[in-house]
Amino acid sequence: MQPVPRISPKYFYDQLGSKLFEAITRLPEYYPTRTEKALLEQQAADIKRLVGEVNTVIEPGAGNVEKARMLCQILQPKYFVGVDISAEVLKDGIDRLRHAQPTLDARAVIADLTNRLDLPEDIPMARRLVFYPGSSIGNYDPPQALEWLHRARSWVDATGGLLIGVDLPKEVAVLEAAYDDAAGTTARFNRNILAHVNTVIGSDFDPSQWSHRAFFNPVASRIEMHLQAEEGQRVRWPGGGREFAHGERIHTENSYKYALPVFMTMLREAGFAQVNTWTDERGWYALLYAQP
Ligand code: AVJ
Repeated sequence: MQPVPRISPKYFYDQLGSKLFEAITRLPEYYPTRTEKALLEQQAADIKRLVGEVNTVIEPGAGNVEKARMLCQILQPKYFVGVDISAEVLKDGIDRLRHAQPTLDARAVIADLTNRLDLPEDIPMARRLVFYPGSSIGNYDPPQALEWLHRARSWVDATGGLLIGVDLPKEVAVLEAAYDDAAGTTARFNRNILAHVNTVIGSDFDPSQWSHRAFFNPVASRIEMHLQAEEGQRVRWPGGGREFAHGERIHTENSYKYALPVFMTMLREAGFAQVNTWTDERGWYALLYAQP
């Protein structure tokens, strides 16, 4: 039997993919970004009060650095370190941040977060805040998410913390619309992974032969995204290839939705003892501030 075909969601984010993701965040159906931004705005004073003095904000997977701009405005740290695999988008974002906050020492670290994270050596250990917005943690399976939280804990000392965004379980229709929008932007985003894989490994996937599938898996509490073959086809790549049957799927992404108590337990297990949470009125999304 052939293994279940899957492509890691990190391959979504080539230049076009990063642009398409930005377009997704503006879709009427895609509530997470908008809800998180509103939480940051509405709770700014409360966040400032609880988090207090921060020397360095570290954002893994910083993307266009838009939310960090808001957070740095609130917390006024000395340093910002944005980490991402998409160099162009990150550098543009860091430039905009420097422009908006000239006294902030903002750095771009181009790195694949599935490997280890090397921060610039002059960034002090004390008073670091790891910022992980956007419910990015939802891409990992729970054991890997827990591992990620352990790593985040290792990036800070007892004076530091983690500010993390988590998408919560909600009505299935709301969840599914957010990942299968009427304009077809998420479908383009999903298909683009094949074009990116073609350039990375030299394969000959024809994205137009694959249709977008997104649905909530209630047992695992996650949205799953797949690409489904519209026809039987053979895909070639240097040194190999593979036959795909009509209707066969490639699994491209999971987006886990954690109930708050479940996620708080994971935080504690990862070494964060003290947790504060903010949620929107609908209870769709949470920001959590976790301290060792
Ligand atoms: C960037 C992983 C948080 O899971 O909601 C959006 C990615 N995929 N629409 C998410 C995504 C399809 C997004 N994350």
